[in-house]
Amino acid sequence: MFGAFFAPGTLNSMANTILVGAQWGDEGKGKIIDVLAASADIVVRTQGGNNAGHTVYLGKDKFVLHLIPSGILRKGKVCVIANGVVVDPVSLVGEIEGLHKLGVKVDSKNLLLSETAHVVLPYHRELDAQRETRKGANKIGTTKRGIGPAYGDKAARVGIRVIDLIHPERFEEKLRIKIKENNEILKAFGAKPLNFKKVHEAYAAAARVLKPFVGNTVVYLHEAMRKEKNMLFEGAQGTFLDIDHGTYPFVTSSNTTAGGACTGSGVAPHRMDRVVGVMKAYTTRVGEGPLPTENSDIADMLHNMGREFGATTGRARRCGWFDAVATRHATMVNGIDELAITNVDGLDSLDVVRVCVGYRVGKETLDYIPNDIETLTQCQPIYVEFPGWKQSTMKARKWKDLPTNCRNYLLGLAKFTGATLVIASVGPAREQTIFL
Ligand code: GDP
Ligand code: IMO
Ligand code: MG
Repeated sequence: MFGAFFAPGTLNSMANTILVGAQWGDEGKGKIIDVLAASADIVVRTQGGNNAGHTVYLGKDKFVLHLIPSGILRKGKVCVIANGVVVDPVSLVGEIEGLHKLGVKVDSKNLLLSETAHVVLPYHRELDAQRETRKGANKIGTTKRGIGPAYGDKAARVGIRVIDLIHPERFEEKLRIKIKENNEILKAFGAKPLNFKKVHEAYAAAARVLKPFVGNTVVYLHEAMRKEKNMLFEGAQGTFLDIDHGTYPFVTSSNTTAGGACTGSGVAPHRMDRVVGVMKAYTTRVGEGPLPTENSDIADMLHNMGREFGATTGRARRCGWFDAVATRHATMVNGIDELAITNVDGLDSLDVVRVCVGYRVGKETLDYIPNDIETLTQCQPIYVEFPGWKQSTMKARKWKDLPTNCRNYLLGLAKFTGATLVIASVGPAREQTIFL
């Protein structure tokens, strides 16, 4: 019934694959990227910034990648931070040094940074924090990494780009103006102004480290395509955090959906061959905003197992039943062909597993996500039930090793979502991956 789409080693022609999160982020994209990177030549980040936290386990070693693509852990792969990403250079240098300490080679041969990516500066982080404080109970619950203000500057055409950062005189001049301007705003917020000298020193030092990594990644990716290299586009965040398609305003500031991979890299839509959607076997969300299937029993169960704490901020993630209304919508806006379902093992102990297949609002029944956030907040999930499997799946390595009830549940999720199941993940490690 299912082809061996991703059997490791057998995937000769990976072509260009976009991987997206089909829920609210933290779907396990890092783990699946690491698995799929085995068959890719180049792994590309195209949007977001160090708000992302992608976890990969190699044996007992845990790596959390924020800006660097998760492909960096595989030898011989080239990783690209493309034009659509917003880059905090100090944080990126910290990440490179952190990987060096863990024995991972990162140099200008396996990591490229786009010269047109925008730079996140301390005033972006400060403004992010101030806006959140001002919003009080209506806060977004951002990661406070300055992502919104940095993309705001990009859209307003007043941002500083990597190409400016690596030209010392140009950078100094631009930074001086920007700090002066932003200090006025910070003062109006009642916040402490920034010290130009301190910021400049830290960023100029980071620029010196990063300079060898910087280049024209659009030209690089197109040359690679001519050489028939296989590219894997690593989405950050998830569909419902997308600035256009998410639960606005409780979203991030970039296009997290498949189209973002094209604009964020300069690779055209018709050069993309496939979209893989990653989703958990249940739902999580970190930060504020509606989550129709939220359920405190599921959250308590997962938190008591030591799971579902944010990889970037350490915050406890909100948890709930699988929401197929949401994932079906994700299939639509991303053009998802194939599905990877992760954290299947998180549900191993349940008697009954529920899946939301529609929303009830007043007398109406909806099978799509309403755009009006107030309506979405009022939505009551309509559930179907699947019998639990009540045994550990963590040692399963083949589809037939999974209990029948578990297989039926996963096939049910794929059917409701409207795409083909190709991977089931039963633990954080590489080997805990079942290819269908
Ligand atoms: P990402 O942002 O989408 O890369 O996901 P995160 O790394 O933020 O969060 C996913 C979490 O689930 C991480 O702790 C992963 O190690 C973990 N994980 C991924 N797949 C599985 C799985 O199948 N089972 C278990 N138990 N953990 C998983
Ligand atoms: P990965 O790539 C989960 C959430 C924040 C907040 C909203 C806006 O690991 O899946 P921002 O700092 O981007 O302005 O915050 O988006 N958020 C994420 N949630 N996973 C992420 O990334 C996220 N990146 C941002 O919690 O609700
Ligand atoms: Mg994450």
